[in-house]
Parts: sequence; C-alpha cells; structure tokens
Amino acid sequence: MTKKIAVLPGDGIGQEIVAEAVKVMEALKSRFGFRVEMEQAPIGGAGYDTARHPLPESTLRLAKAADAVLLGAVGGPQYDALPREQRPERGLLGIRSELGLFSNLRPALLYPQLVHASTLKPEVVSGLDLMIVRELTGSVYFGKPRGIRTREDGVREGFNTMIYSEPEVERIARSAFEIAMKRNRKLCSVDKANVLEVSELWREVVIRVGKDYPKVELSHMYVDNAAMQLVRAPKQFDVMVTDNMFGDILSDQASMLTGSIGMLPSASLDKNGKGMYEPIHGSAPDIAGKGIANPLATILSVAMMLRYTLNEIALADRIEQAVSRVLDQGYRTGDIWTEGTKKVGTKEMGDAVVAAL
Ligand code: IPM
Ligand code: MG
Repeated sequence: MTKKIAVLPGDGIGQEIVAEAVKVMEALKSRFGFRVEMEQAPIGGAGYDTARHPLPESTLRLAKAADAVLLGAVGGPQYDALPREQRPERGLLGIRSELGLFSNLRPALLYPQLVHASTLKPEVVSGLDLMIVRELTGSVYFGKPRGIRTREDGVREGFNTMIYSEPEVERIARSAFEIAMKRNRKLCSVDKANVLEVSELWREVVIRVGKDYPKVELSHMYVDNAAMQLVRAPKQFDVMVTDNMFGDILSDQASMLTGSIGMLPSASLDKNGKGMYEPIHGSAPDIAGKGIANPLATILSVAMMLRYTLNEIALADRIEQAVSRVLDQGYRTGDIWTEGTKKVGTKEMGDAVVAAL
C-alpha cells in the first residue's frame, strides 16, 4: 500500500532541511520501490503567513489523514510580536496535542566519526547511545490555569500549571518501559519529587507500572542531578523518561554530547504508534536561507519514521548506514566540522546521503 506522508517544512532552516529529507524519500521511491506519496502544507509562521493561523485547518486535516508526518521546525523573530495564540510555537504544540502525540522519543546517539565534534572529552561520550522519552502533551506546556494577570494591589504576575493525571503518567511510563525492554533494560525516571507534588505522583505511578516490567532496572533521579550526570557520565543512562518541560531541556543538553544538535532526530507517537517526525533543533533564523544547515537530523527522522510507524526496517537501516558512510567519507556541515574534514552545505550533504543509500 502506498504510504501518505504529510510534509510540513515550517520556518527558517525547516524549508532547507526538509527539502533534503524529501530528496532522500524520493530516492527510496525510485530506487528501492518505497511506495510513498508526499504532500506539503504550511505550519508555524508559514501557516500564519498563508492562513493567518500557525496550524491552518487544512494542514491539520492533511496531518490527520496521513500515515505519518514529517516536520521541519517552526519560529522566527518576525513572529515574536504576535499574540501568543498566533505564534509559530502554538502550531507545533497544537499539532502534537491534536494528534495525541504524547510519547516523544529523542535518541542521543554518538556516531564514532563525530567523537571529536563534541565539546566533551572523547572518553566521556564515545559509545554513547541513550534514549530520552519525553512526555509531550501534558504538564506546564498545556496545564490550566495559565496566563498573565494583575493582582488587586496592581502587581502583574504570570502563572502556569504543572499538572499530570495518573493515566497520563501511566501511558508515558508504559511507553518508556516498552522501549527499555527493546534496549538495555535500564530506565531512569527523571523528576523533581523532592519539591513538586506533580512529581511525587509521577514517581508513584512509574513505580507501579514498573511492577509489570520486572526485567527492567528502574531508577529515579532529580532533574538537577540528571542534568549534571548527563555531562559527567552520560553513558550510565540507557532510557530516561521525563516530564514535558524537563525533557525539552535535557534533550537539548543531550544533543551536544553527540557533537551537534543538528544530528538529533525525534519521533512523537500516539497510542497506536502513528507519529510525527522532526529534528529536535529549531528553525535557526540566524542561518536560515544560507544553505549551511545540517540536514542529517531531519534525514535521520525519516529513518525513525520508517522504523517506528511505517514498519520499513530495511529502508530505515539503509538511511542510517548511508549517514554513517557519508560521515566516514568526511563530509561535514559547519556545526560538526573539525580540522581535516570536508565542509559542505545543506544540499551537498543531502546529495551525499542520496549517493550513499
Ligand atoms: C522542541 C522545541 C519546542 C518545545 C518549541 C519550539 C515549542 O523546543 O521541540 O524541543 O519546547 O517543545
Ligand atoms: Mg526544545
């Protein structure tokens, strides 16, 4: 059956990097019989520009009807002054929530070829392979009440609500345990249970779900310690499961262990394994349009899509091996460039991957 993929490039470098990922999918189609149909739609600032909404209805409809969604990135300084509801980020949060994509997988895998691109010592990061499972549709990102108000004494205050229901914690915990079962069976749940009630409940539920997975070694860590351990000794982790906001922060941090945020793909899955795939980095307005952004995180997101939603494992392997080969050949975009390697732009990197498929 032909798979339908909704392609949402978004803003900034989103356009350039998604174009390379599309090129890779076209190559899978023409050379390896991958039956795929792609349709593009605007989201984020591009959605606002074309339909005055960061998540146009037609985009949402396309995404819902598709077998999977590939997204670039959203946001840009030209949209910063818009009311919050119309900001690009709302388009991204909206689609995650509308599609029920509660389980966000953010693997931090260090390609041995990039061991010197990391700012950390080679011995600290070499061999790194960890998976952050970030809850994606709850907590302070979505909790109500939220807002900015003026108190009776005239002082303004901003407020958000960090909230998780038991079923929300239970399903993300289950998702993380299942992933741990397929990896090295070690799961670290990251919370702030020494201070927050929401974390106290989180931990209680994770422990309860863990009873169904006796083969998984479960541990708990406060988020501040986890941030420290991630740079001190990141190889102690196999799978980490955490709250939406903690996961946002820790995954950016983990990306640097691998050399560059430009290398990290992600999958956001619903309860049926349908998903949206995107690089974890943002729209990088400072380098947008220059043709120098690293497309590998987006290309690797296509590999995750093939693996987790479309069940095309051989094609997923093919992409991941092509990326590895390209790195062996010495091709590097600016973010992962080190002395003695070949600096290339976004398009050349995409072409190199296509050639290596
Ligand atoms: C991410 C991004 C988003 C988030 C922003 C753009 C809303 O930082 O995917 O990590 O905070 O989730
Ligand atoms: Mg983030």
